[in-house]
Amino acid sequence: QTNLTIFASGTGSNAQKIIEYFKAHPSISVGLIVCNNPAAGVLDIARDNNIDTLIIERNRFFQGDAYLPELKDTDIIILAGFLWKIPGALIRAFPDKIINIHPALLPKYGGKGMYGSNVHKAVLENQEKESGITIHLVDEEYDHGRHLFQAKCAVNREDCADRLAQRIHLLEHKHFAKVIEDYVKELQATSLQ
Ligand code: GAR
Repeated sequence: QTNLTIFASGTGSNAQKIIEYFKAHPSISVGLIVCNNPAAGVLDIARDNNIDTLIIERNRFFQGDAYLPELKDTDIIILAGFLWKIPGALIRAFPDKIINIHPALLPKYGGKGMYGSNVHKAVLENQEKESGITIHLVDEEYDHGRHLFQAKCAVNREDCADRLAQRIHLLEHKHFAKVIEDYVKELQATSLQ
């Protein structure tokens, strides 16, 4: 069984969908939720699903490998609304094993400061006709690693950031878990070669 750890610090709607999906596809399971905000909604979701949680603390996290002992049972890390940059030491400990979801069509609207509604506001300000989601591997450059998947949606003239966010969330909920599952299969196939 492949053991996922989800890093999330927001409402956790993506975490919820991932948990539900893998209950029905149990070759993969979610063993731990890592969170940097003790008030985050995702912690309620973890509790409701009997999933262990780990609240991390900024100074220790940015020491790089300080949390590795707590991640010893983790095969793959999923970033689902986790906004701190992942330290290099953690990326090197999980090479090609950290997956992020970003609420725009990278490489556009990525990088420092581009998260959540900031992304949608920038997309609207630039009068983009379309936006979407990018699911990608995490490397040491912010929002940069290999793309696993993108999906697009229209941006309408009357959209506000909230409406666009809702449309993007639907795309995320539809695709994220399946993309994770396909990537795990890809890793298993290459390790057998
Ligand atoms: C998602 O839209 C995700 O793409 C975004 O945070 C939201 C979390 O929503 N992530 C980023 O902006 C990362 N740069 P959720 O808590 O409802 O899953």
